Amino acid sequence: MSTSTQELAETVAGLTVPGKGILAADESDGTITKRFKEVEVVSTAETRRDYREMLFSTPGLSDFISGAILFEETLKQKSATGVPLLELLKAQGMVPGIKVDNGTVPLARFSGETVTQGVDGLAQRLGEYKQRGARFAKWRAVIYIGAGTPTPQAIAANAHILACYAAICQEQGMVPIVEPEVLMDGDHTLAVSARVTEEVLHAVFHALHQQRVALEHLILKPNMVEPGRTCPERATPQQVAQATLTCLRRTVPAAVPSINFLSGGQGEATATTNLQALNATIGKQPWALSFSFGRALQASALRAWRGDTANTSVAQQVLRKRSRLNSAAGQGKYSAAMEDE
Ligand code: 13P
Repeated sequence: MSTSTQELAETVAGLTVPGKGILAADESDGTITKRFKEVEVVSTAETRRDYREMLFSTPGLSDFISGAILFEETLKQKSATGVPLLELLKAQGMVPGIKVDNGTVPLARFSGETVTQGVDGLAQRLGEYKQRGARFAKWRAVIYIGAGTPTPQAIAANAHILACYAAICQEQGMVPIVEPEVLMDGDHTLAVSARVTEEVLHAVFHALHQQRVALEHLILKPNMVEPGRTCPERATPQQVAQATLTCLRRTVPAAVPSINFLSGGQGEATATTNLQALNATIGKQPWALSFSFGRALQASALRAWRGDTANTSVAQQVLRKRSRLNSAAGQGKYSAAMEDE
């Protein structure tokens, strides 16, 4: 095994420990400002630092969390006592990663669709992030279901750029998290979500193959297949699990080690219940089925913290509990009764 293949394999092994998932704490400044506003916290470099310091120093977090995705600012920040925030993760044996895309821009001539930017200079940036201790990266492509969307062109453009990103990461010895998110915004049915997600994943894995990406050394971060947020026809966790697994089995090669779902705006308990159904209902799959939630891991912890360091311990207990429940769900051992324990 070459040195870079070996380091990719080691990072994958560190991230895919059974019973553990990935904490997505890589909200851009705009997104974290929105989340803070909901709990009446002003977003400054210092409050963002305090919040993420609270998350990363949660005692026992590494029992359930294998790694965390950071925003670039966080990678450079130090705790109140001068310890780099990334070292707080490493001290517990969690693997630090970094969001490397620069967000979406409109896709020219395709109204309502976007493409994700950030490939320019990516190899150099990855080198710097790696020097600071990051071992994996994340790139999010966004697909919108609406009247006439997604177009095949938007799917192809996003798939190609995701694959280019993944190839650049692997060449730099960083494990890529490949995140094609089909949004749950809209009134589309479960069947439409299934059709679009299947098309998108098919295009993504074709593009990954074409760009010579090693599937063994990446993690897929997809949406679960579910009805749009405003679709009157709701789906049970079993229906979500069935539709999601059908789609994944048709499109994701067995060489992929782990599928870590995003939560996409699902409530915390809903995301956990769906993950449980994915692991319990249908039997054995070729890949691990775990989580890389943002909101569905942090929402209650953020509400408990509210910008006050006096609430740190309570907020950490909340985060640890949510992580524990998702860990259980990732092993098919979660039940609703555990919410009240
Ligand atoms: P959510 O789980 O809140 O969707 O966030 C995951 C993520 O990393 C989005 O890019």
